[in-house]
Amino acid sequence: MSNDRAGDIAEKLRQQAAAMDAGEKLPSVRTLSRAYGASPVTITAAITVLAEAGIVRPEPGRGTFVAPRTQSGGGTGALRETRDEPDYAWQSSTLGRTRVDPGRAGRFGSAGTAGHVQLSWGYLAPELQPFDELRTIGARCAKSHRAWTMAPPMGLPELREAFAAELGAHRDEVLVMPGGQQSLAFAMRTLADPGSTLITESPGYPGATIAAQAAGLNIAAVQADAEGIIPSQFADALERTRAKLVYLQPGCSNPTGAVLSPERREQVLALAKMHGAFIIEDDWARNMSLEGTTAPQLFTQEPDGHVVTIATLSKPAAPGLRVGAIAARGPAGERLRTARIADDMCVPALTQEIALALLSSAAWPRHLGRLRAGLLERRDAMVEEIRAAMPGTRVATVPASGIHLWVRLPEGADSTALAAAANAAGVMIGDGRQYFVDEPPAPFIRLSYSAASVPQIRAGVHRVAGLLESQASTGR
Ligand SMILES: Cc1ncc(COP(=O)(O)O)c(C=O)c1O
Repeated sequence: MSNDRAGDIAEKLRQQAAAMDAGEKLPSVRTLSRAYGASPVTITAAITVLAEAGIVRPEPGRGTFVAPRTQSGGGTGALRETRDEPDYAWQSSTLGRTRVDPGRAGRFGSAGTAGHVQLSWGYLAPELQPFDELRTIGARCAKSHRAWTMAPPMGLPELREAFAAELGAHRDEVLVMPGGQQSLAFAMRTLADPGSTLITESPGYPGATIAAQAAGLNIAAVQADAEGIIPSQFADALERTRAKLVYLQPGCSNPTGAVLSPERREQVLALAKMHGAFIIEDDWARNMSLEGTTAPQLFTQEPDGHVVTIATLSKPAAPGLRVGAIAARGPAGERLRTARIADDMCVPALTQEIALALLSSAAWPRHLGRLRAGLLERRDAMVEEIRAAMPGTRVATVPASGIHLWVRLPEGADSTALAAAANAAGVMIGDGRQYFVDEPPAPFIRLSYSAASVPQIRAGVHRVAGLLESQASTGR
């Protein structure tokens, strides 16, 4: 193909388009190819020249159309003329439907502004993070050569070892990951085929819902109560959907704080075995036990590789660290470890070094002790304030670990309107609606006590209580 030939044809096509109306369809590439005695490649090149000049708009699968006329381009403009605005319209038809629901993803992880009282953020307030330790350790680690070389794709051996001890796994079963969210998305994508079904407890973690959407999975929600997922409904869902992948938070549910009870653990594992299913266990709250009792990982209760467990340091340490781990047994573990390198070469060595130094320092247990005291004080203040200031609401479970309270609003209350009003009034709260995969059965809000101080918690709950009261008095 000669460029001159494509240029000549482009000029002829420009004249042809100028005589047509905007939105009219140009003849097909095959017809033009015949008409101009040129190859389809040359015709396509000519059309590309016109498209770049904004004279025509190719729509993949439909044809090429005369573009709307603008002052700077359009049918009568010169070919070399440039347009003021890029035209991304073609992308919509090329991309097709979005997998991740933008509404759900947009609401997720909203941090508000520095002026907001943060009762919706699922991480620690700066004063609860091991900031001094991280600063000292970080400076020391940054001086080592190892921090600036490529780490092994599975992670630093010593850090794998440290996570293995934490997870009740063998070092070889552990894969160091850049945090919990990435671990979820990666496990879902690697252990299930697009178009298959993932079962998740509901209410549940919205980040798992969008991770499943990103992996192209269908989602079947199964009701959970104060003891976790309800086994009879779980059994029905496995039967009905033939799902082979399940997402659960057995140690502590975000948002409800529920812990999967010992009886249900047995039932859930038996069902997973019977149906040949994998359970992704999101063990995010492991180091945030408030009452001194920690449920065992489901992973340690089952030897045959049905459970893949995920840990993160974002919650008990600092969210910016972005270090976590997956442990998995058998061919699934092998598959995860093989697939890992397709995503990136490794978790940055510097952050792995920092995580390793933190976990193996004497400062870590000291930090966890301080953290527990700080969270306990905040949890109790929040529960007390809700009970005093928000009559008609109910704290579903006073959680024995974690950082969230799940609050049932009075019948008929509008959680979405309340969350929006609270946001406008300077308090971030979680609209319960987003924790359900489908429609919520009742109005809830999620209030988190980890990111605010006790005075902020008290003031924030009061402000929300006032808004709830005025919602009720104005008939919503
Ligand atoms: C239940 C749960 N799992 C996983 C994550 C992801 O955490 P990370 O910051 O480690 O990606 C979160 C964060 O909010 C969470 O609440």
